[in-house]
Amino acid sequence: MTTDTTIPEAHSTAAPAARTVLDARGVTMRFGGLTAVRSVDLTVGSGEIVGLIGPNGAGKTTFFNCLTGLYTPTEGEVRFKGSVLPSKPYKVTATGIARTFQNIRLFGNMTALENVLVGRHTRTKEGLWSALLRGPGFHKAEARSRARALELLTFVGLHDKAEHLARNLPYGEQRKLEIARALASEPGLLLLDEPTAGMNPQETRATEELVFAIRDRGIAVLVIEHDMRFIFNLCDRVAVLVQGEKLVEGDSATVQGDDRVIAAYLGEPFDGAPGDDADAADDAETGVITSAEVGHTAKENDR
Ligand SMILES: Nc1ncnc2c1ncn2[C@@H]1O[C@H](COP(=O)(O)OP(=O)(O)OP(=O)(O)O)[C@@H](O)[C@H]1O
Ligand SMILES: [Mg+2]
Repeated sequence: MTTDTTIPEAHSTAAPAARTVLDARGVTMRFGGLTAVRSVDLTVGSGEIVGLIGPNGAGKTTFFNCLTGLYTPTEGEVRFKGSVLPSKPYKVTATGIARTFQNIRLFGNMTALENVLVGRHTRTKEGLWSALLRGPGFHKAEARSRARALELLTFVGLHDKAEHLARNLPYGEQRKLEIARALASEPGLLLLDEPTAGMNPQETRATEELVFAIRDRGIAVLVIEHDMRFIFNLCDRVAVLVQGEKLVEGDSATVQGDDRVIAAYLGEPFDGAPGDDADAADDAETGVITSAEVGHTAKENDR
């Protein structure tokens, strides 16, 4: 059942439509008998920050995996700047999509600086022979990479942590380091999977500012988060996934005002729920629940 109630091109009436950077159409991902993502369409325009929310197990991370070559969608197509995505993650990174992971994936025994340098490998032209012979070209490239990595560490607020081992950094700083590493591949689109999970409120606010700053550098952002205040402060547009299907998409006010979104988070039945074949939702009583409370509810269930 398709329950997409997408607000048609909310941006196109207000301003000239942003150039589409990401265009995912009909993306479906099945694992055996389980359909984790079902026929999801989603675009991200240049200069946009788009949010992807939904209850635990809704298929958000699986959808990200389909956008980064980690999974090949069972059906559907993903285009980045007009071209169909290559099938390997490192090739996707080279085309300009970078990501962070819900479960942090850093090299714990490497310094923060080294972790960011690893993220630059798709952007360095120096080949194997140059690295082995360590000629002048190699040293110049290495100096450029190092300067850029330090600049990115400063950008995310870790300038004084360059030589610290990643595993010794507090959790919030590890998340920032992941962002710096992702930025090191010089992406046109950054995918963030729960960037504020485990952060305190101050760190979360700082991350909000960081994401705005990333957007201001010309990088489009697609972000998964359970913290609704963060999402609604930040995003130009928000899409809601429920049981693998896109239920609602629109600006923050539209999504916040949609009772089905609250019902979906609370696990209550509602009219047109994905997989719902009965009319049992008519009586769904959502009560007065603020968006912040929805975020709280989701956080409590967070894995
Ligand atoms: N590799 C896999 N093999 C089998 N099932 C999978 C696989 N990856 C994800 N799933 C299933 O797909 C569904 C969606 O999972 P996914 O991790 O995408 O949800 P999510 O929206 O990111 O949830 P959360 O908010 O908890 O991170 C779940 O039922 C999950 O168990
Ligand atoms: Mg997830």
